Amino acid sequence: MFDPEDHTSNPTIGAGAPLIGELIETRLSRRTVLGGLLAGASTLVTGCSIAPVAPQSGFSFQEVGRGMDDNHHVPPGYAADVLIKWGDHLFDADAPEFDPYRQSEADQLARFGYNNDYIGFVSLNDDPSRGLLCVNHEYTSAPLMFPDIAKGFPQSMTKDHVLTEMAAHGGSIVEVRLQESRWLPVTGSPFNRRITAHKTPMQMSGPVAGHDRLKTSSDPTGCLVAGTMNNCAGGITPWGTWLMAEENFNLYFTGKLAEDHAEAANHARYGLNYSVFSWGTFFERFNVEREPTEPNRFGWIVEVDPSDPTSTPKKRSALGRFKHEGAETVIAPDGRVVVYMGDDQRFDYVYKFVTKNALRKEQPDPDLLDEGTLFVARFSDDGFVDWLPLRFGEGPLNVSNGFDSQADVLIEARRAADLLGATPMDRPEDVQPDQKTGRVWVMLTNNHVRSTAQVSASNPRPNNTNGHIIEIVEPAGNFASTRSRWEILVQCGDPNDDAAEATWNVATSANGWFGSPDNAALDGTGRLWVATDGNPTTGAADGIWAVETSGDRKGTGSSFFRAPIGAEVCGPQFSSDSKTLFLSVQHPGDGPAASFENPSTRWPDFQPKMPPRPSVLAIRQLNGDPIGS
Ligand code: FEO
Ligand code: CA
Ligand code: CA
Repeated sequence: MFDPEDHTSNPTIGAGAPLIGELIETRLSRRTVLGGLLAGASTLVTGCSIAPVAPQSGFSFQEVGRGMDDNHHVPPGYAADVLIKWGDHLFDADAPEFDPYRQSEADQLARFGYNNDYIGFVSLNDDPSRGLLCVNHEYTSAPLMFPDIAKGFPQSMTKDHVLTEMAAHGGSIVEVRLQESRWLPVTGSPFNRRITAHKTPMQMSGPVAGHDRLKTSSDPTGCLVAGTMNNCAGGITPWGTWLMAEENFNLYFTGKLAEDHAEAANHARYGLNYSVFSWGTFFERFNVEREPTEPNRFGWIVEVDPSDPTSTPKKRSALGRFKHEGAETVIAPDGRVVVYMGDDQRFDYVYKFVTKNALRKEQPDPDLLDEGTLFVARFSDDGFVDWLPLRFGEGPLNVSNGFDSQADVLIEARRAADLLGATPMDRPEDVQPDQKTGRVWVMLTNNHVRSTAQVSASNPRPNNTNGHIIEIVEPAGNFASTRSRWEILVQCGDPNDDAAEATWNVATSANGWFGSPDNAALDGTGRLWVATDGNPTTGAADGIWAVETSGDRKGTGSSFFRAPIGAEVCGPQFSSDSKTLFLSVQHPGDGPAASFENPSTRWPDFQPKMPPRPSVLAIRQLNGDPIGS
């Protein structure tokens, strides 16, 4: 989005955080990274031995060229169909076509929301041609969305605009079917559902539920929250539920607490001094001076059961409160479930959550995510990463530091992680584990304010405008391990620009490199497909690049999809047979001077009266083969 993550709120930065100052020496120079990548088949620790990972074949598609224009692009031999757009009706096939000049809260509640982000796919009855698409609607771009408000924005926003915005946030569940090589939404399916920022009751669950710091005047129980917002990336659990990650919740709150207020420091650590929405103007709930604990009810992972449209979503507090980017799950060898998560802000952290109990595959515990341990990552320059538990009563997480319970530790997970000495990263976005190989990839988008004095082995470039991808290897495929190995898969940017210090495999073409990795997905062969948010800083549109993760081509990028101008790409998601790649085109037509009347593109309708519409695309190969084969 508009990079609110670029605002740093970690007070340990610049104050001599021990890890940063100590890690000036980079473990991997550009030369050694390339040497390692080219040394042949990569290895994977399994059991007590090192087993080779099967080499991957090169991608067979013809790369999309670098550039930027008003449309999207895929390789020859592929088709990209618009599956669903902002404003498409979910419940009534006979409903009038979406009219952007007649928007209302009531109308938007029945239609696909704005700025689609994460896409999950849950098969129905094990039928590969039928499933539920679970799509996050991260935020609204009001000047692009509503007519006649760009002039004088944000004062031009009315209460009706805000209610429509709230209805356009949250998520959508849409049944989709594959019919004659084309995915289509099933309008009116009994599974279809809208989840919003104000009309969907949600239950607080886990250690924080009912805590005083969650109680508000409208909810004296501290157990029931009206909705969710800024749902960025996410995940689908092994038991088929949808995890929605609440990211930049701070942007929705106005007002400022006195410095001596009990929640003031907490709010500051989460950046609650930077509002871009007008919700607090019309609703006291979003004014911290009226409701100082309301922000504590956001910044969680929300679990939704898409198979039951009447189910109450649950905010799983055991997974901690931060600006959650995603929540991808795998199963450790002992059956415990592990959730990998990034906190997307400059100088914030990478986390994983390990459930207390093993997954019962025959009869899963629906509340499995309520008990377990949250760990934060400390990357050392010797190639190890230690996972530090956020447990009340251990180490500095005690009363003398202002924590009275595990609930306090989870509400202020960022401060707990600061005290533990976690490694401040260059904006951790998606963290993508691979169940098959025990490897995990961390997307680090960028951080253009990291100074030379602040570089570390795991964040080795000052002024890191292009981002990088870290590979973690969990020992013996044990995702629950507290000590893992890491190395850098690629330092993004232009490999032909020495100053960029990019580290691609030399097989990478002039189109194959990129900047600002954000979301990622694995195909059936373990190759990483990376969506970008910020690649235009390199002079070309955002898109999707495939990256090889093993063999002598490890670290080779290939350009697969190019977005229309103004858009970032999110939510890449493969169907179970890898024959379809679903992706989100978010905020198409955006730009410094873009508005409803004057967007940078009118994608995908290209009608003079229709603004650009964030949409989900389904990409397939014309010959029906898996993507990239
Ligand atoms: Fe919503 Fe971190 O991107
Ligand atoms: Ca993202
Ligand atoms: Ca992003």
